Amino acid sequence: VFGIYIHWPFCVSKCPYCDFNSHVREKVDHAYWEKSLLQELSYWLPLTQGREVTSVFFGGGTPSLMPPTLVHSLISFIKSNWPCAENLEITLEANPSSVEANRFQALAQAGVNRLSLGIQALNDKDLKFLGRKHNFAEALQALEIARAHFPRFSFDLIYARPHQSVQDWLQELEYAFSFGSDHLSVYQLTIEPGTAFHTAYHRKEFELPNEEESALLFETTQGYLQKAGFPAYEISNHAKPGFECQHNLTYWRYRDYIGIGPGAHGRVTIDNQKHATRCHRAPEVWLEKVHEQGHGLVENIPLTSEDRLSEMLLMGLRLKEGISIDRILTETGYDFWSLFNSKRRQNLEKEELLIPSSSHLKLTSQGQQKLNSVLTYIQDSLTL
Ligand SMILES: C[S@@+](CC[C@H](N)C(=O)[O-])C[C@H]1O[C@@H](n2cnc3c(N)ncnc32)[C@H](O)[C@@H]1O
Ligand code: SF4
Repeated sequence: VFGIYIHWPFCVSKCPYCDFNSHVREKVDHAYWEKSLLQELSYWLPLTQGREVTSVFFGGGTPSLMPPTLVHSLISFIKSNWPCAENLEITLEANPSSVEANRFQALAQAGVNRLSLGIQALNDKDLKFLGRKHNFAEALQALEIARAHFPRFSFDLIYARPHQSVQDWLQELEYAFSFGSDHLSVYQLTIEPGTAFHTAYHRKEFELPNEEESALLFETTQGYLQKAGFPAYEISNHAKPGFECQHNLTYWRYRDYIGIGPGAHGRVTIDNQKHATRCHRAPEVWLEKVHEQGHGLVENIPLTSEDRLSEMLLMGLRLKEGISIDRILTETGYDFWSLFNSKRRQNLEKEELLIPSSSHLKLTSQGQQKLNSVLTYIQDSLTL
């Protein structure tokens, strides 16, 4: 398993809730970006040559703003320089405005075989609140075009919006289900520091559901989608069995991937040692670095066994399948059960936060809802 992540850092406008590495620029020199992204891919080639690529993911920002010819040139470069899995998954994140939907066919021809659409809400009032540039009619149209051109498509929704009742949300979920995608990501609205919503929220310009209401909305989501044949395979990600996003599974299962483009992260094994990599976030600085040194990395550090264990827990506990104890041993050298305080293990099982299993460390749905505190509870007891 080996993934390639490519970050496109530009958006038409900045959404008030978003703290992703996205920037608004009047003009983007596409030819120069193409050259630089290819150059950074070339940097990784000798370090990872011969590894079979299982997924490519164009994330953002708004990668649907990339010229399809640029997407095509990156995909061709990957396909002609690395061996690729027969069922190579190539995902691209897209916004559903009509300008972008007009490009979907060309993006499919460029080799993208999975589209992830940022729909976010299914009514105009909430789309406006979320600062989106598209309306509901455009979202429906984009879904239609996506269905026509891509063998697989998914979309994102944000819930726990102001005044959203369980009843409203349930109706929206039913509607969402009727669109016939094979995958759905549902994120609870979070107020991130540094965003416009952060300021507005603290000025009390709007209110969000309280903890209890949010928990109810989470349970409603899990229950409804489970029954509809879209079980959660990760806290916020649901799919028909067999349609899970292979690229995101690569992160959560703690397998290797490289990250190309501004702010991209990677976890990659070089000479039997796993490294954490990070590129410079600012688009212009990243370009300059690639120009000067052939890559935009500002960090490339070897990870200790302890680091790897802690990252594996952080990622793997998000998954319904949990973490294989054998995998922990091969990845870190640790025999997990001998590190983990048995009293705490029993407590978690008693409180129905941990599923009893000797082969896997896996949380119940309630455990996942309280992921942060459960994680701390487990980590604090490990005797490394
Ligand atoms: C990088 S963005 C998506 C790409 C694309 N530009 C878009 O907006 O559709 C990934 C997803 O994260 C989710 N997201 C971003 N910020 C969020 C927040 N503060 N709370 C909840 N979900 C958020 C949104 O659903 C978004 O579609
Ligand atoms: S949510 Fe998407 S479109 Fe909005 S600023 Fe973030 S990356 Fe850009």
